[in-house]
Amino acid sequence: MSVLVIEGSQWGDEGKGKITDYLGQNADVVVRSQGGNNAGHTITINGEKFALRSIPSGIFNPKIKNVMANGMVIDPKQMLEELDGLISRGVKEFKLYISNRAHIVLPYHKDLDGAYEDLKGSLKIGTTKRGIGPCYADKVNRIGIRMGDFINPESFKKHLTDALAIKNKELSMLGLKTYTVDELFNEYSKYAKRIKPYVCDTAELLENEIEKNSKILFEGAQGAMLCIDHGTYPYVTSSSPIGASVPLNAGIAPKYITDVLGICKSYDTRVGEGPFPTEIDGEIGNYIREKGHEYGTVTKRPRRVGWLDCVALNYARRVSGINHLSLMLFDVLGGLKEIKICYAYELDGEVTTSFPSTLDELSRVKPMYITMPGFDEDISNIKDFDSLPVNAKEYIKKIEELTKIKVSMISVGPDRNQTIILEKLL
Ligand code: GDP
Ligand code: IMO
Ligand code: MG
Repeated sequence: MSVLVIEGSQWGDEGKGKITDYLGQNADVVVRSQGGNNAGHTITINGEKFALRSIPSGIFNPKIKNVMANGMVIDPKQMLEELDGLISRGVKEFKLYISNRAHIVLPYHKDLDGAYEDLKGSLKIGTTKRGIGPCYADKVNRIGIRMGDFINPESFKKHLTDALAIKNKELSMLGLKTYTVDELFNEYSKYAKRIKPYVCDTAELLENEIEKNSKILFEGAQGAMLCIDHGTYPYVTSSSPIGASVPLNAGIAPKYITDVLGICKSYDTRVGEGPFPTEIDGEIGNYIREKGHEYGTVTKRPRRVGWLDCVALNYARRVSGINHLSLMLFDVLGGLKEIKICYAYELDGEVTTSFPSTLDELSRVKPMYITMPGFDEDISNIKDFDSLPVNAKEYIKKIEELTKIKVSMISVGPDRNQTIILEKLL
């Protein structure tokens, strides 16, 4: 397998960073194709923790070409701060390529993100307030600014002038501070100058790498249930994180995407508002939250916790073409007397395994569970499947049976070496 898509199969924060870093040890290229610094990908290397936001997780390996592709929205100021943070921690040798077609996030996108959240009332999404939604909205509305124009001072000034003529009207309508062209141009053209050496046609780069049969990893951000098209709309992000979006967001042909590795917690979490059928409150929810350190990487918000929802997971498999699973944070379930797994929903007295499309239906579904015996042993140092406790193995087999996806990797701790491999994927 030389082109592998890593996709979050739930509501984000499944451990995509850890697996990208793990598989990246054999990769030539690591690509982020969508989202921006709403992502927070944690990587633990020899006990040292790094939280990446917009930079791909292959950055620690000087041989890997790291690509930020056209489908991303990039906050130049934050990206440079992130890069400087890495450099100051010793990451001095790296290869980074940024698409000339990626869009840039400017301060007014962040202002508008906050303002729309305040105005939305019951439809408040609980966004990361990083300006992601307003930036993608400008892209679709054809008033966005792309990297290729950003790094050319004349072009940047022209596009900024045109964009501000519209955005300032929107900002004042909402009672927000407006911007002058000069203030943004003067500050941001400094960032543009620093970013310029990294900017290129990344689609062309990827085509060359594919021709050379290089090993390419696509590092998804967010997760299938946050997809703008297939997620729990409107409680979603503003891009599509699923495997099908990769060709569009990276500028490669769809035929190259044959394998999608779904990164999947052994339970579910969700940060922000929106439907979450298997959510659990109380003692067990708190146990999982504390043991799994389930607090947002970006916003530090406590993550909502739930049992593994195989209706949602099956739905993600179908829309994304997930054909392998990496089961994450399995160690966290250790110590629970019983583990529940949702296999169907009851909706208005009928049993269904279809994932409903409306908030109204999702608010009425009642998850149907299989209850399995838990395991007490600490599994965080186990290196092979056979050494896992019997009940842990039974739980994995049940997931495979309910989802018809092969579990190819099992993660039992945040570090690289806390990974059990059942099938070598790259
Ligand atoms: P991402 O956004 O999908 O990359 O995931 P995050 O980094 O936001 O959240 C996953 C969290 O789980 C991070 O703190 C990881 O260090 C941690 N993690 C990853 N795999 C494991 C695991 O198998 N066990 C435990 N206990 N923690 C893990
Ligand atoms: P990673 O890549 C978890 C959630 C936000 C909010 C919704 C919309 O680390 O898995 P946005 O700022 O994108 O407009 O917010 O999506 N969200 C995430 N949740 N992990 C993420 O990324 C997320 N990125 C966005 O909490 O509910
Ligand atoms: Mg995260």
